[in-house]
Amino acid sequence: MVQLPGFIDPHVHMREPGATHKEDWYSGTAAALAGGVTMVLAMPNTQPPITDAESLNLALEAARQKAVCDYAQYLGATPENASIAAELAPQTAGLKMYLDHTYGPLRLADMTDWMAHLAHWPYEMPLAVHAEGRTLAAVILLAAFFERPLHLCHVSRREEILIIRAAKERGLKVTCEVTPHHLFLSEEDIPALGQGRAEVRPALASPRDRQALWDNLDVIDCFATDHAPHTLAEKDGNTPPPGFPGLETALPLLLTAVAEGRLTLEDVIRRYYVNPQRIFRLPAQPETWVEVDSESTWEIRGENLLTRAGWTPFEGWRVRGRVMRVVLRGTEVYRDGKVLAVPGFGRNVRANAM
Ligand code: DOR
Ligand code: ZN
Ligand code: ZN
Repeated sequence: MVQLPGFIDPHVHMREPGATHKEDWYSGTAAALAGGVTMVLAMPNTQPPITDAESLNLALEAARQKAVCDYAQYLGATPENASIAAELAPQTAGLKMYLDHTYGPLRLADMTDWMAHLAHWPYEMPLAVHAEGRTLAAVILLAAFFERPLHLCHVSRREEILIIRAAKERGLKVTCEVTPHHLFLSEEDIPALGQGRAEVRPALASPRDRQALWDNLDVIDCFATDHAPHTLAEKDGNTPPPGFPGLETALPLLLTAVAEGRLTLEDVIRRYYVNPQRIFRLPAQPETWVEVDSESTWEIRGENLLTRAGWTPFEGWRVRGRVMRVVLRGTEVYRDGKVLAVPGFGRNVRANAM
């Protein structure tokens, strides 16, 4: 048995308010615990999107009643909310700017809207962006105008990771995350997954892109799941929405890479705990740890997962390393496949910030 820190996932979609048939604050945070994650930062592309005090309170009230791990909620940037967002900043995980098309209505088309947020949002609060390809280069430039830190979500392509390397070499304050699905899957997996199930943004990339992520591991600050649950009926339907569930498969996949010598355990702890805590200015969780059976080999099965999605793109994968027990703030919250924490045990880690 190996004792590891409670992991921090800075990028999850909890779907509440608005789409609790996909996930809610209970099922999503239960999935987090099953994956050894004790703190999640929730994205704002819910229904309604989280863009002002009223919608923020809607999400936080659901989380307060249902969450079983600790959490914070992102605010979404709109063309109108730059000053309101900045006022709410201390109560949020950070600001998310959607700069390319993805799931939901939040998207900033006009670069002057990006600038308004880059100028207003407090320097010390996290600012994360969905920016692919040339959009990523553009937003790095604009953040540099304001000399402000910027976090780049789910980097998936060779040109992106190399631009981030170049930005870091020039002293720009950029950090980035990579998802397990972009590390372990590529467009070659699309036929086996099926078109609808393989839909994800950023899309699965070429094997060369995937290899570039592994070759530039030193540039990758965080692992983040981008846990984006949609039901099988939706994924197999006529207009499949993009997104994969990932909370319960990330750690086993990463630990399997450790067993295979592709990563070290320190690589995982640094990117899935130490760096997220530092970059997103998150509090320590005292008396919090995860017990993993590092020898246990098992097969990933969608039907055994706690996420409401009910499927996984890693169906049938044999992995090594199983989460046996999770202790959060001194309380046993998960053991042998069962969530023991009562709904509402999770805390908003930004709650005292006023
Ligand atoms: O695949 C994705 N799904 N990418 C995103 O950026 C959004 C997410 C979602 O919310 O479903
Ligand atoms: Zn995104
Ligand atoms: Zn996302």
